Amino acid sequence: MGTGAEQNTRAGRFITFEGIDGAGKSTQIAAVVDRLRQRGLEVVQSREPGGTPLAEKLRELVLHEAMNLETEALLMFAARREHLAVVIEPALARDAWVVCDRFSDATYAYQVGGRGLDAAQFRLLEQWVHPHLQPDLTFLFDVEPAIAAQRIAQGRADTDRFEREQRDFFERVRAAYLARAQESGGRIAVIDAGRAPDVVTADVLATLGRLP
Ligand code: TYD
Repeated sequence: MGTGAEQNTRAGRFITFEGIDGAGKSTQIAAVVDRLRQRGLEVVQSREPGGTPLAEKLRELVLHEAMNLETEALLMFAARREHLAVVIEPALARDAWVVCDRFSDATYAYQVGGRGLDAAQFRLLEQWVHPHLQPDLTFLFDVEPAIAAQRIAQGRADTDRFEREQRDFFERVRAAYLARAQESGGRIAVIDAGRAPDVVTADVLATLGRLP
């Protein structure tokens, strides 16, 4: 799995987690990190937008300030460039594994699919910010937006401006994620996240076990 030539030469792997808000990523990320650490691997766990002090400041802005769509996409990629330079690239260079909550597939799904950013602009930014790197494996937690919305409502009160979007927004985000999975050549594993968490975990760990 993966594309860039450098990926065949490093021992660590880059694994990302995606899905609409409320898909239940957090529990599954913890299970994967535990499993990898049990194997004695160095695991760097991070998230996007964020993962460095500067990128976390950009996260605060982008999750809570109203802004123009292109500004939103540029800030996502600005935070990503910083995160790659400071955390992801050095970790992979020393053969650590990187487990990241969201990456560029989220920008495709939310900004292109959800908000209508031009896909060509997305590709330009993706090519610029990480021309040779894609995750080796991406888990896409796929769930009905209605179920995800219930989970968010039960979970917490302090929602951000993405979580406050309406059902049709999440339908578009979900569709864009699934389209990207189709085109990913097997990099993106679609996991049915409508099932009980332990059933989902079993599926996730089995998929992880097949990663070369
Ligand atoms: P999320 O990862 O769900 O974190 P939490 O569980 O703390 O809410 O929140 C990040 C939000 O940012 C989520 O709604 C998706 C959005 N997002 C984008 O719109 N584009 C991106 O490129 C990324 C990385 C995230």
